Amino acid sequence: MDWNAGLYDQQHDFVAAYGEHLLALLPDGLGFAVDLGCGTGALTGPLTARAARVVGIDASPDMIAQARLRLPQVEFLVMDACDMPWNGSVDAIFSNAALHWIEDQERLTAAMARVLRPGGLLVCEFGARGNIGRICAAFAAAFQAALAEEGIGAAYLNSERFYFPSADEYAALLVRHGFTVRLAEEYDRPTPLKGGQDGLASWMSQFFAQDMDCVPQAAQEKIFAAVADALRASQWDGGQWIADYRRLRVVAVKH
Ligand SMILES: C[S@@+](CC[C@H](N)C(=O)[O-])C[C@H]1O[C@@H](n2cnc3c(N)ncnc32)[C@H](O)[C@@H]1O
Repeated sequence: MDWNAGLYDQQHDFVAAYGEHLLALLPDGLGFAVDLGCGTGALTGPLTARAARVVGIDASPDMIAQARLRLPQVEFLVMDACDMPWNGSVDAIFSNAALHWIEDQERLTAAMARVLRPGGLLVCEFGARGNIGRICAAFAAAFQAALAEEGIGAAYLNSERFYFPSADEYAALLVRHGFTVRLAEEYDRPTPLKGGQDGLASWMSQFFAQDMDCVPQAAQEKIFAAVADALRASQWDGGQWIADYRRLRVVAVKH
């Protein structure tokens, strides 16, 4: 999946802005903290106030290049979170809006459990069960219709691979991997998208980028228009699009 770091910082910076509340769940005076799926580093900077050593990791070279420009003094690594190398030496893993992108959750959770020291903290927030449910349903319908019209044939929807668990489901996964769960709560977070009328198409072009790879440009525009038509009654408030985000916020301790 390709991330457009420039577009992300201009149009989707609300993602990190919401994550600032999550930082408050971390204690001060940490030794070593990892920002997992750090993106362009918007939250890695504030994280440095809480830990002596902070490393931001992200699978996207584009995002890491932008993060290094933003914060040249901070350590950033292009890395798949499932391959983190620090066995038992990390005091806290912080992660905002990243975990739902990762396909192999068993491997990821095993990796997080492996790198945290006993007593180490996981503080994360990502998509909960039902997250962007209306947008995904409208997108799936418009996508399949456009492919049929183009004669491309049915294609697997990559966006259906997002991991959006319930609080109970995610807590059970963490417990299986040796965590004690202190907090696991789902909540609705209706989220205004920047860009007025174009905001929804701009959001889809980033977040459904993988799906769009197999679709010609003209058909992409048809898909965006069909999704907007389908959602206008419920998600357009007269001045902006409101995405039907649902989040899962978690604090867990490795024992
Ligand atoms: C929506 S962005 C969130 C970025 C940042 N945490 C923020 O709050 O702005 C999701 C990030 O997760 C990263 N990501 C996805 N899969 C990953 C993986 N397997 N390992 C590390 N990072 C990953 C993406 O490259 C992307 O930068």
